[in-house]
Order: sequence, then C-alpha cells, then structure tokens
Amino acid sequence: MLDARRRAVLDAIGIEMWRSRHPVSAAAMDEPSLHQVVESGHGASAGRAVAGPEPLADDRVRVADGRPSVSPPLDATENVAGLDWEALRATVASCTACALHATRAQAVFGVGNQDARLMVIGEAPGADEDRKGEPFVGRAGQLLNAMLAAIGYPRETVYIANIVKCRPPGNRDPHVEEAAACRVYLLRQIELIKPQLILCVGRISAHNLLGTEEPVGRLRGSVHRFDPGDIPVLVTYHPAYLLRQPQEKAKAWQDLQAAWRLLKSA
Ligand code: URA
Ligand code: SF4
Repeated sequence: MLDARRRAVLDAIGIEMWRSRHPVSAAAMDEPSLHQVVESGHGASAGRAVAGPEPLADDRVRVADGRPSVSPPLDATENVAGLDWEALRATVASCTACALHATRAQAVFGVGNQDARLMVIGEAPGADEDRKGEPFVGRAGQLLNAMLAAIGYPRETVYIANIVKCRPPGNRDPHVEEAAACRVYLLRQIELIKPQLILCVGRISAHNLLGTEEPVGRLRGSVHRFDPGDIPVLVTYHPAYLLRQPQEKAKAWQDLQAAWRLLKSA
C-alpha cells in the first residue's frame, strides 16, 4: 500500500491514469513497478552513450567524449579546472564567456546537495530562475520537485543544474556556442559531485550532455554513459513539456522509477 505522502505526491504529479492501469504494488519502494526494460538493447550500443558513429556537423556541440567540438574560450577552460565550489560559483556569477551574460539578471549556478547521488540537469534558467537565482523554481520546478519526492529523492537531496547558467532571452533554446561556452562549469559541477546517476530532463539537456540528436522519446528507456566518470545517464521529458502534454506523465513516471532502481543498485 502506498503511504499517504507518496500517494499525495503521485496525485500532484497527475499519474492517476497510470496508477489505475498499473496499480503500484505494496512494495512500491522495494520493488518499483518498472514496466519498461531500462538496460534496453539498442543493439551493441546498449548501455553506452548514444553519440553514435554518425559525425555531427561542425557547429554542433559534440560532448559524448567529454569534449565539446566548439571550444569554450580558453580563459574559461583554463580557469575552471580544479576550482572548488566557492570559486566555481564566483566564476559563474561574473562570467561573460557567451552572449547570454548581457541579458541575464543573474547567473543561475545550481542548487542542492553537493554529495548528491542523483544529479538532475535541465536546460536553462527561465524568467523565474533568472529572478531568483535558483534553477527550477517555477511551475516546471514544482512538478520536478513532486516527481523527485515520489521516488524518495526530494529536491534537497539531489543536485540540480542546467546546461547553460544564464537565461536565453525570451526562453529561446540555448545556441550551440552558448552551451559549449558554459560546459566547463557543468563538467566541473559533475566532477565535484560525482553523482551515481545523472537524469537529463528534456531534449536540450540530453543532446548537449550526450552529444546526440535523437529525440527524447528514443533516448529514454536506456542507460547512457557520461564520460569522464563513466556515470550512468537516464533521459526523460522536461517537466515544462509534461505540463503541456500531461498524457506523457506516465512515461516520465516510468523513467523516474528506473532512476530509483538504478540508484538502489548503485
Ligand atoms: N527549465 C529548465 O530547464 N531549467 C530551469 O532551471 C527552469 C526551467
Ligand atoms: Fe558564462 Fe554560461 Fe552565462 Fe554564458 S551562459 S555567460 S558561458 S555562465
């Protein structure tokens, strides 16, 4: 039987449809109902990063090997390796390495548990985040919080960061060169946290982290790998997308359960 808190959280996420079709078992947290094989076979590449043999165009960020094909400014790259949290935060706060610095209210560094087992990577700050200086504080953030709480990893237990730290004007997608410039900061955050699992939420996050252009619908359901660190990566839908397409919440819930299962065995 689900406890009241978890049931309330699931209701908040809005997965009643899923729940009624696939009742969560008594041992929900001991043995989550995972209706999808996570370590699914995409042929020989099962469990590996999806950045396949197909070369990406030169102007695309290529990141599966941990190196963007679009080089960030040298000064940023040189200065970031080895920075501790405080110095990294200060560097991001005053960063002018890409055009996004000009229109931001403030850089949004990242938030959460620096020893987190689970790291969530989103896309970019929106208006709310730009104003508050913290990732995922708007409506999408509330949904993300509920989803994380539902698998027993409430917001404060995980670390949340974005691909780019400054808000793209009008919430447009970050440009390739912006993501490339900002990548050193995300890499250092990952390096400092050493998470056991990375959850990419949304297309921009997955594409930039994994160096692929596959749609989220094809990336989810498999365990990818991030180097350096050989860190398992799962991909799911962005909570903002789920707010627009609530019928996809059931799949996101499956992805979250997969995350829970991976962390349990990590
Ligand atoms: N969407 C994101 O991807 N990141 C945020 O911080 C907020 C909304
Ligand atoms: Fe610097 Fe990243 Fe902000 Fe661009 S988005 S100015 S690289 S912190």
